[in-house]
Order: sequence, then structure tokens, then C-alpha cells
Amino acid sequence: MCGIFGYIGKRSDATDIVFKGIKTLEYRGYDSWGVGIIPNAPTSSRKAGLRGATTKGIVVEKQIGKIGDAKLHNPPASSLAIAHTRWATHGGVTQANAHPHLDCTGNIAVIHNGIIENYDTLKKQLSNKHTYVSETDSEVAVHMIEEKMKALPFSEAVRQTFLACTGSNALVAINAHSDEIVAIRNGSPLVVGYGDHEQFIASDAAGLLPYTKKVHFLEDNEIAILTKNNIEIIDIKTNKKKYITPTILTWTRAATTKAGFDSYMEKELNEQPDIIHKISLERAHSEKLTEAIHKARGTYLIGCGSAYYACLAGTYLFSTIAKRHINATVASEFTFQEDFINDKSLVIALSQSGETMDIIDAVKRAKAKGATIASIVNVEGSTLWRISDLPIPCGAGPEVSVASTKDLIAKLSHLIALSYCLAEKKQETPAIFKKAALETRRVIFNKKAIVQLATQFIKKEHIFIVGRGLSYPATLEIAMKIKEISYIHAEGMAAGELKHGTLALVEKGTPCVVLAPNDETYGANIAAAMELRARGAIIIGISHTHNVVFDHYIEVADCGPATIIPTIVVGQLLALAIATEKGLDPDKPRNLAKSVTVK
Ligand code: G6P
Repeated sequence: MCGIFGYIGKRSDATDIVFKGIKTLEYRGYDSWGVGIIPNAPTSSRKAGLRGATTKGIVVEKQIGKIGDAKLHNPPASSLAIAHTRWATHGGVTQANAHPHLDCTGNIAVIHNGIIENYDTLKKQLSNKHTYVSETDSEVAVHMIEEKMKALPFSEAVRQTFLACTGSNALVAINAHSDEIVAIRNGSPLVVGYGDHEQFIASDAAGLLPYTKKVHFLEDNEIAILTKNNIEIIDIKTNKKKYITPTILTWTRAATTKAGFDSYMEKELNEQPDIIHKISLERAHSEKLTEAIHKARGTYLIGCGSAYYACLAGTYLFSTIAKRHINATVASEFTFQEDFINDKSLVIALSQSGETMDIIDAVKRAKAKGATIASIVNVEGSTLWRISDLPIPCGAGPEVSVASTKDLIAKLSHLIALSYCLAEKKQETPAIFKKAALETRRVIFNKKAIVQLATQFIKKEHIFIVGRGLSYPATLEIAMKIKEISYIHAEGMAAGELKHGTLALVEKGTPCVVLAPNDETYGANIAAAMELRARGAIIIGISHTHNVVFDHYIEVADCGPATIIPTIVVGQLLALAIATEKGLDPDKPRNLAKSVTVK
């Protein structure tokens, strides 16, 4: 989950480059951060340097907390530096536990993403010879490299260290005595970027966009050795050089800025109408998926977080539009339900990052049983993308906010298009998408009423969101958005379930959002609103028409099955407004990170 950035090359402001790099990747973790620099100047002049610096070969600065507007203290001129933002796994959030970690001599530094599962055993093997200053699993790797370098060259010592570690990891190491960055991955993502007399490494391709679009996503068990003029890719097991063709990224640099908005979430939320429109113009993607579904016996949608809610929405869309059954499972649970997967099965994996560990694991297991893997992935070239037989680009563009907005809406648009394609009613989609895009734009334009409403909720302990049918996954998604960015307990549920427990929590003044679109669920949803109101709840109705039971009414026009899109957008705006009113940073919710690459 951590952010990684490294630079080697012709410039002498490597520190600045890697520091800016991890700022752009901060969504991957923001407990603490650190940089490791090999200064260009001779050792004697390094000593006066940075706060928290070592007086040895590698200069390090680490701090706890978000990078935000932090500045480095007198960084020396450097052409080789690495940086890291941490999402703590082993060891609390302290300066000592922040990366990079140094060996006993201060000449070797590593940054790490993942969990070294056997670190305890490795640590015991080395502890009488080395001094540990952190509680992390990562530090064991740097001491092991130090030990192995007594007999081996640097890159070979890194390779052998990595081979000794179990778990899913990405490791980046530097050594004050050699002009190279050595990086290895198994499970955790790493991407190298090719420049002109300069090379880059990062945990996400988005961080490389200001410098290069020519990249290679490291495969599992690949080592990258970056020098000023070259990147060598080696197979970790055979130790043989691999010849690869770099990928050219299609994203633009502007897509990763806030573009004048206060937060990435707000910016990404505003991009949604255009994304719906863009997806409405594509035909080939749903045709390819339709063909795969026709060939299969048993299709399974899997995803995590918001992507799972899209899967759940898919089951309703398939049923109502295509009159077909499809299974939807949370990816982390799929492992316990996969006994029936075989070579006729089709798994459609939904993911923004394409790196979420739970989904990658589930897909690999299904693949091992012979299943065909299709996926709708936002990050082209990501792990999920590469291991899929049929990867479909989600087309939302880079999503930086930890809480997903536009990627989910793009996935829902793909699933709507797919359902109509399966039903052989493709001709109906342009009108539906046009309405949904216009209504989403209108909802965003009229957000003032939602913002005003949000001020009433900031002191509330619970918010309940209820709906039926296709609105049920929407209630889960809206609840998730409110929880993760405003820290208010929110629960989404099928309205029919209210009476089976949750109603006991409703009292005078409890806010309850009722989704009542113009479909067969309308009457039953209004009945649920009545029951809630009878217990003192404040009812916020999201509907195509006002109803006397609503204390507050937010209009969402009927867009057929695509009504789920503007409805969720109302929930996104509500969550964002509550977070803003509470003075919280919507882009970086506490304890969370965007790319969940650990179990
Ligand atoms: C994290 C994010 C969510 C996202 C989920 C799945 O929890 O905060 O917004 O829905 O991961 O991520 P994926 O990249 O697989 O869609």
C-alpha cells in the first residue's frame, strides 16, 4: 500500500524529484514518509546536511504524518535518491519505523512495500551481528543485504535477500558505493520509467507522468537494475536478462492534478458526466464481454469495496435487463466459494487499481482451475490487467482520491451497456446514457441544497440509507462514502431488512436517506420511509418526485436503470459536504489507502 519513488540520472535535484514523486503517490499511504539520498558532493561536505541525517554514505530524512506542505531541510545536490510514504503494517507510526531503513554502516538503504512474512526467523538469524533500530519487518532486508555484500556484489546480494523473504513484497535498494537502484517485486506493484539519461521507479505509473510515458510494469519475480543510461530487467530465479518491450502510457499529466478544485475527490466527481458519455460511445467492449459470457457456463463478478458494489449492481442489471443470472462475490470471500469453478467458468474481475491483493489472489486461484478471466480495470498494464484473458479498460482516467467516485460510475456504465448488449437491445443505451450524463451534471450543478443539508448531519452518530432492488447496492456505496470520508457511522441496507434489527437504532432525529426511484420499488420504499418517520427519523428522500413523508427532498430524475448513477452522485456530494463541513481531508481518510496490496 506504500508509495515508492526513485530516481537516477543526469539531474542533480534527485531529492526534489523523488519528494514530489511521493507527494503525488501519497494516496497509497500517509502515516509517515522518508527520503534516502546519495549526495553528489564528497562525503566530508555531506555532514553539515539534513536534519535527522546520518553522517555516513546515505543521507536520510524521515517524518511522521502526511507530507502535505512539508519541505526538506537543505537537501544536497544528488543524482540518485529514493522516497517512500508508509501505510503501517509492522510497527507503529514512528520516525524510526518510517522508510528508508539503513544497514549498520549507513551505506545501504531500502524502501519496502508488502509484508516479509518470515521476517522474525530472518531477524533471529542475523540479530547477533546487526543492530536494529525499528520494529519493522522491512529493516531485516537491509541487514541481510549488508551481510550478503560481504561476499557478493550489490545487485546479487539484493536478489538473494529477496529470494530468502516470503510474502508479497516490493523492495527498492540503493548503495552509496554503486550508481544503481536495484528493485524487485513479487506481488506488490512496481513500474520503471525510461527517460533520456535518467530512469525512474515508482509504485504507480501515475507518479511517472511528469517525466515519461515509456514504462515497464515489473512482473512478479523480475529485478530491475536502474543506471543512468539503462534499465536492465532480470528474472530473479534464472538470473538471466529479459528483453522487454516498454508500454506507452495514454494518461495525460493534467489528469493527475486537482485542476483548481479543493480536493481530488471533488475534481473526480465533476469528471463523471463526461466519463458516462465517453463509455456510451463504446460498443466493442460490451460485445467482447457478451461473447465471453455466451461461451461460459457460470459467470462470476468479483471486486472489493466500491468495485464489489458495482458487482452487486451487476446482478440486478443482468436480471432486470438481460434476464440472466450472474453471481457476485466480495473478492476476499471468493476463495471460500470457488470449489465449483472449472474450465468453463468466466470470472469478471472489477478493480480500479488492478493491484488489490484480494482480487489478484482470487483471480490467480480461478485461473489455476482453468477459468477464463475477464476484467474491467482502470489502470491499464496493472497486474490484474496483465493476468486477464480479456482485460477491458474502464476509462475513468487516473483516480487519486482514496474514496472511489468516477471509477465506480464508469464500472456501472460498463455493466449497464453490457446488460443491454446481452439483451440484444444495444440501440436503447444511447438515450439512457444521455439522460444519466445530463442528470448527473444537473445534480452536481445544484449541489448547494445538498451542501446545506450536510450541515445538519455533522454531529450525528448514525446515518441509515435504505432502498430496494438496484437501489440496494447504491445504499451500500453511499454509506461507504459517508463512513470513509466523514467518519460518521453510516449503514446501507435493503429497505426490507430494516424491521429485522436496524429499526431498533432509529430514534428522534436519526437521519435516514430513502432511495425511491421511479421503478417497481417505489411504493415499498415510501412505506419504509413512513415506518422510519413514525419512529422520529428525519427522512431525506432521493426520488424523481416529492412525497409528503420526506422532510428533505433531493430530486433525481428518472433515467431508467441508469438512475443509480445520479443517485450515487448525490451520496458522493453528501459525503464530501459532511467531510468538508467537519474540516476533514476527503482525499486521505484516516487509516485507509487507495491500493490495498496487503491482505
Ligand atoms: C480501497 C479504496 C476503495 C476501492 C477498493 C478496491 O478500499 O479505498 O475506493 O473501491 O480499495 O480497490 P480497487 O482498486 O480494486 O478497485
